[in-house]
Amino acid sequence: MQNLFSMDGKTVLIVGGAGYLGLPVCEALRAQGASVVIGDHHPGRLAEAQATLAGQPGAGEVTTCHVDMADESSILACVDSCGTLHGLVMATAGSSNTHFDKLTAEEYDRSNRINLTGTFVLARAAASKMTEGGAMVFYSSMYGTVAPDPANYPGDMPPNPVDYGAGKAGISQMARYVAGHFGRRGIRVNAITPGPFPPQAVQDVHPEFIANLTRDTMMGRMGRRHETAGAVVFLLSEAASYITGQILGVDGGWTAW
Ligand SMILES: NC(=O)c1ccc[n+]([C@@H]2O[C@H](COP(=O)([O-])OP(=O)(O)OC[C@H]3O[C@@H](n4cnc5c(N)ncnc54)[C@H](O)[C@@H]3O)[C@@H](O)[C@H]2O)c1
Repeated sequence: MQNLFSMDGKTVLIVGGAGYLGLPVCEALRAQGASVVIGDHHPGRLAEAQATLAGQPGAGEVTTCHVDMADESSILACVDSCGTLHGLVMATAGSSNTHFDKLTAEEYDRSNRINLTGTFVLARAAASKMTEGGAMVFYSSMYGTVAPDPANYPGDMPPNPVDYGAGKAGISQMARYVAGHFGRRGIRVNAITPGPFPPQAVQDVHPEFIANLTRDTMMGRMGRRHETAGAVVFLLSEAASYITGQILGVDGGWTAW
């Protein structure tokens, strides 16, 4: 029986691939035979991610491209440096981390530039490299579907900001739109909406916050670092060959109560 999840001979650009959730996606794609191009704006993280992947088994190549999702010319240059693409993963985010009452219009615009304009520019450019068809997965968020409960954020901790959630809602909708636009060219587009995946350092410093988030998941725990990778590999692979325009929750049940 054919391995439906095989990515043999495929090349995938993962923007945000050096990040907390992005790196396990690169690892999982390589384990399925893909070549990966790691895109990120942080040179140190890029080098570290490339070294990590190079030390792991996998037939596919590992290359990097510097890209700033706030800058159209940088996005176009990164995509241009890739050969034929079969997959795109957008795993970055713009977020002000600023309280609603203090958020400036400039900060709001900056987040939109990364989340909305950046994803649009990236998706259109990447599609032009998918000459044999392909698939895209955008990282949205459960906070693009539901609002954060301010009571979950103890003390003076600002709730997850409005620019982030509004941008993620836009990314979910963009996945549907782009799926419709490219469907007949054999390019599928889906989004995933991760729930709470705080890195260990955040968990260590904010135990009350983590207890609050834990209560709101059906599974009673935080998402683990590698637990979005399976959904991404699935959506990029033949296993999802008739799935497009969908938003898949990877949130321990948060949005299903
Ligand atoms: N971690 C969570 O709890 C969580 C929850 C829901 C959704 N998400 C989404 O998952 C995705 C990955 O999140 P993460 O936790 O790995 O975050 P992260 O900050 O660890 O990784 C993001 C990566 O994107 C890079 N980046 C940031 N701004 C960029 C820009 N302007 N241009 C290019 N690269 C840029 C960073 O250098 C970093 O390597 C994001 O879209 C995020 O919104 C995360």
